[in-house]
Amino acid sequence: MCGIIGYCGHRPAIPLVLEGLSRLEYRGYDSAGLAFLQVSDLKIIRSEGKLCNLVEKVAKSANTFAPIGIGHTRWATHGLPVEKNAHPHKSYNGVLAIVHNGIIENFQEIKNVLLEKGYEFYSDTDTEVLANLVADELDSLLQEKYHTKFIDNAEILMHKAQEDNKEFLHCMEEAFCNALKKAHGAYAVVMLSPLIPQHIMAARLSAPLLMGIGVGEYFVASDVPAFLPYTREVIFLDDREFAIISTSSYEIKNIFSREKIEKEIHHIPWDLQGAAKDGYKHFMLKEIMEQPKVLRDCLVGRLQNKNVLLPELDNLKMPERIRIIACGTSYNAGLWSQYYLEQLGQIPVSVEIASEFRYRKPILGKNELIIVISQSGETADTLGALRLCKELGNTVLGICNVLGSSVAREADFCLYTQAGPEISVASTKAMLSQMVLLLLFAIYLGQRKNSHQEQATEIINELLRLPAVLEKTLPQLCEKAQYFAYKYAFAKSFFYLGRGVAFSLALEGALKLKELSYIHAEGYATGEMKHGPIALIDAEFPTFALLFDDEYFSKVRSGILEVKSRQGKVIALLQEGTMLENDDLWFIPKTSLPEFLALPAMQLFSYEMADYLGKDVDQPRNLAKSVTVE
Ligand code: F6R
Repeated sequence: MCGIIGYCGHRPAIPLVLEGLSRLEYRGYDSAGLAFLQVSDLKIIRSEGKLCNLVEKVAKSANTFAPIGIGHTRWATHGLPVEKNAHPHKSYNGVLAIVHNGIIENFQEIKNVLLEKGYEFYSDTDTEVLANLVADELDSLLQEKYHTKFIDNAEILMHKAQEDNKEFLHCMEEAFCNALKKAHGAYAVVMLSPLIPQHIMAARLSAPLLMGIGVGEYFVASDVPAFLPYTREVIFLDDREFAIISTSSYEIKNIFSREKIEKEIHHIPWDLQGAAKDGYKHFMLKEIMEQPKVLRDCLVGRLQNKNVLLPELDNLKMPERIRIIACGTSYNAGLWSQYYLEQLGQIPVSVEIASEFRYRKPILGKNELIIVISQSGETADTLGALRLCKELGNTVLGICNVLGSSVAREADFCLYTQAGPEISVASTKAMLSQMVLLLLFAIYLGQRKNSHQEQATEIINELLRLPAVLEKTLPQLCEKAQYFAYKYAFAKSFFYLGRGVAFSLALEGALKLKELSYIHAEGYATGEMKHGPIALIDAEFPTFALLFDDEYFSKVRSGILEVKSRQGKVIALLQEGTMLENDDLWFIPKTSLPEFLALPAMQLFSYEMADYLGKDVDQPRNLAKSVTVE
């Protein structure tokens, strides 16, 4: 939630910060702003609504060169999404500006202390409190050093800062760290100040922040795409670390000990094309259409003589139980994998929603493996669950997409999903990649137990065939999705039904439809309909039913016919070679893994519905890509 960026270098900072923000807009888009230095003046431009409003405002008011800048795109946590709450936030005396992603949980206590000291606040945000806390710490340090209170006198202060620039950098560093030590909660912050005009400072605790290392230029940002056109060399900051960046150097230290830390520089293999629309109308459509490639990429290096290779897990002890923990779409992928992990791995599996799990004092088995699934690797609840499980002494396997993310670094073992950058807020290709990895893991467990080898070989053969099948089927899926979306755009509500492996897909279909088109949708296990939900069915309440050619076929078919007998309209997605007495049939090719075709079909249906209804497909209202707050 919220995207932040900071830049120090030889290029004009203002367009660069705006460009970076455009690649971070998926993280939040209710307001945006930037700060830069014009000679020794701290300039801030902010705007309500999407980034384009800020771009327009900047074009009107800032035709200047600035070598240093910071920017923010917001997903509101404290205060309405109006201009006064947009970042950056200045300290009351204007000596510094801060952008922030996260929540300062004790902001009210800090604010009360500052109010008593006479500080004034102009927004409802926790970030403004943090900005003033740093200013207050700086005030104390400068008073101690110069035996005079001159922080309110900007002119003298600037003069002193120019005279004593090394000393001011030192004091600012101390003030920044002292303030952060007092702030509880989660933060990724970037700060700029005319008192240290060659530098920016940045720090993190439980919110993503990384540095881009260029030639004669340095970046800090919430995510790699922000600076991908300029560098792919990246340092991942860890919790309680801060960085001081100038146009010619950088330093990373611990906030508490202030000791220097040597960090590894990672090369990111993603290219800019992965983070661009590539001629598609929306990122979401591009990401759905990329899925044959994602399937292939997930299998590269993972198969040898029909055996699954997961060398990352060589030292993983065979678990007695598995518990999967995740949120949203990643949870749905976990629920789907339960069938395969239990069947092929012969290990009992439970699946939990991270936000519920982490607060209910869970009892974990001694040899219970925890799998956390997260595209971003930064979801606060999933990370909270991971940390709790580690505290309880359990081994955690992370399945995530973003290189160097918190889940990847904090889990004992990690499998990367190879989906490439997912920009659209609604997760599509990431879920498919999670499913592939989880399926490979299920086969891998079976391999280690020497069980179900024949079935595993069949699945591997089918997985190898699937990319080509999906590639060939996608044009048909697009056409059908559009046809059904137009036909059913009247609906105010939808049921999604599935059984067995299709149940979790039904949940995912419903989630996609509601988050993109704002049509109410509920996913149900087909067998549950009779236990209540069927009461809602009438001619105005349609159903999207998944009918796979498996052992449940005849039972699911009966369930769908029961819906039809109550005037319910049904879109039935079924496999070639099977049949149902229904008007709206949507056939997918025959395969033993129909999930991998049904998922893109449902994604496309939601996409077309949202686009037809004129919704903001890539940035649905009230949402953000990575939920780094609880
Ligand atoms: C829905 C969606 C969300 C995420 C959820 C978890 O389209 O994208 O439900 O799946 O917020 O995010 P990650 O996987 O990043 O932990």
